[in-house]
Amino acid sequence: MSPIFSVTSGVSVVPASALPRPAAAAAAAAPAPRTYPEPDPDAVLDLAGVTVSRSGNDLLAEVDWQVHEDERWVILGPNGAGKTTLLSVAAARLHPTRGRVAILGEQLGKVDVFELRPRIGLSSASLAERIPADETVADVVLTAAYAVVGRFTEEYDAVDATRGGALLAQFGVEHLAARLYGTLSEGERKRVQIARALMTDPEILMLDEPAAGLDLGGREDLVRRLSTLASDPAAPALVLVTHHVEEIPPGMTHALLLRQGAVVASGPLAEALTAETLSETFGLRLRLDQRDGRYTARAAGNPTK
Ligand SMILES: Nc1ncnc2c1ncn2[C@@H]1O[C@H](COP(=O)(O)OP(=O)(O)O)[C@@H](O)[C@H]1O
Ligand SMILES: [Mg+2]
Repeated sequence: MSPIFSVTSGVSVVPASALPRPAAAAAAAAPAPRTYPEPDPDAVLDLAGVTVSRSGNDLLAEVDWQVHEDERWVILGPNGAGKTTLLSVAAARLHPTRGRVAILGEQLGKVDVFELRPRIGLSSASLAERIPADETVADVVLTAAYAVVGRFTEEYDAVDATRGGALLAQFGVEHLAARLYGTLSEGERKRVQIARALMTDPEILMLDEPAAGLDLGGREDLVRRLSTLASDPAAPALVLVTHHVEEIPPGMTHALLLRQGAVVASGPLAEALTAETLSETFGLRLRLDQRDGRYTARAAGNPTK
């Protein structure tokens, strides 16, 4: 398979030869330090040349990425591609080794991240692990607001309780409000986690593999709810990480495909997500089908036949 793909307007496709090399090898032929353009004031995320190096390897290599308010992005890539690392940088949880990161108009390194983080809704497996099993579902959602305003009393504002209830209802788990979080099914937990991430009324919502571990019914329910969210003009900018195209909710507008820390393709969904870019991203020949706004992928037939 040729690694070179035609470049369509609005989408950038990077050949495999541009994939990151070990940092030691890269250092030998280190390019001149890059200067970064001023961040786009209208972008909710503006990453330029973002590189994260650990133990001599680039987990992310020279990632450029802009997200605007009305965009809904899906980040696709195999296990270990750097998706969670990218989200950690974009959610102001991790400083890159190199590069410039602007989040909601604030530049990482020049802003108090503790003021920035409440403006970003994040749901991930590592955050979910920290939710106490003996907390009620209502409190799991409410404490997101509680942590932000740093209240000293255990009394929540009525307005917060109303918002928490509405978010639980939006994700179909309002009947579980009094239950202990630890007693919920995986699917119910995922929906509570997303309601929690939305509690602070964030300007951007980032979901790291929200459908992981769900059964078919749970996945389909979540995809439907996320599709409703993605199609809501009042909803925040959305970034959804997955490694299954089947989990892409209708209504997503853009895609960024990552392989070994490097961007394979990025841009409007229909142009960035193709059989060619997906095959390049996952390292095998794939067939990609789309029907009613949903995607399926499977290995393509034997190329020698
Ligand atoms: N602190 C670290 N030190 C070294 N390697 C790491 C560290 N954290 C993550 N990695 C590696 O970085 C790669 C990308 O990880 P990650 O961003 O979690 O990928 P993804 O979410 O796409 O599965 C993986 O190979 C992982 O093992
Ligand atoms: Mg991950």
